[in-house]
Amino acid sequence: MAYETILYEVADGVATVTINRPKVLNALNPQVVSELDQVFRAIDADPEVKVVILTGAGEKAFVAGADIAAMSKMTPGQARNFSRQLQKVTQLMEEIAKPVIAAVNGFALGGGTELALACDFVYASEKAKFGQPEINLGIIPGAGGTQRLPRQVGKAWAKELCLTGEIIDAALAKEIGIVNRIFPPEELMPAAKKTAATIAAKGRVSTRAVKELINFGYDLPLDHALRLEAETFGQCFASPDQAEGMTAFLEKRPPKFTGEA
Ligand code: CAA
Repeated sequence: MAYETILYEVADGVATVTINRPKVLNALNPQVVSELDQVFRAIDADPEVKVVILTGAGEKAFVAGADIAAMSKMTPGQARNFSRQLQKVTQLMEEIAKPVIAAVNGFALGGGTELALACDFVYASEKAKFGQPEINLGIIPGAGGTQRLPRQVGKAWAKELCLTGEIIDAALAKEIGIVNRIFPPEELMPAAKKTAATIAAKGRVSTRAVKELINFGYDLPLDHALRLEAETFGQCFASPDQAEGMTAFLEKRPPKFTGEA
């Protein structure tokens, strides 16, 4: 499929999606959002892809937010629909069976922080910056900033970030739980690819189960979530990867997972 606003490549089971509008710091206009929707649907359907890395083109930005020029002309109804379109992409990223790693190479503001938070975890360059500056535009976050951010960092930090619009550095973003790990800029993509390769070598039944249970069990009452975990744990024992993983351990050799359900 041809994309105009994103770059897409797959190598050794790892898909890299690069938002590619560097002249406007990879701002999200309706076309980018639509192409992200298409590419994540394609990724979900492609058995060759096991893990995804999401990043931004150029030296400066991951995504500097929704495209302010495009938004400046929107009616309330169009803005509502744009917010839903963005939110649906973030939900799609959470729902697909494959882990998505954000490699935040620079500014991740507004919709940029929100996209990163919809990934399974975030690696950041030392140059990365995060924030929800929508308040400075007379609006509010529209892609999960008031909802996913408090679930990730707690209500108090989410309120401070959304109310002040302050832009924070990678170190503070790590301290409050947005970022897992920080790297020098040139080491960010190699590190993301190394982790992606590690995950790609695991059994797909297990990687899917971990992602689904943590994403969808998290908001359930603990007793329900634990029962769901036990059911899924049991289902793993119907997969060839369970037999292979345990046989390989007992035979003192590395496992060779097939990913068959
Ligand atoms: N939308 C459209 N264009 C943008 C943009 C955005 N979000 N962010 C940057 N650009 C454009 C700039 O207009 C500029 O274009 P020109 O060269 O044509 O003037 C170009 O990208 C480079 O940007 P700057 O010259 O501003 O670069 P800088 O280094 O001086 O500043 C910055 C960088 C601090 C990120 C600054 O660009 C900025 O504040 N950007 C806007 C950030 C923002 O408010 N994001 C939230 C958007 S709302 C949102 O995301 C809603 C939601 O939740 C869905």
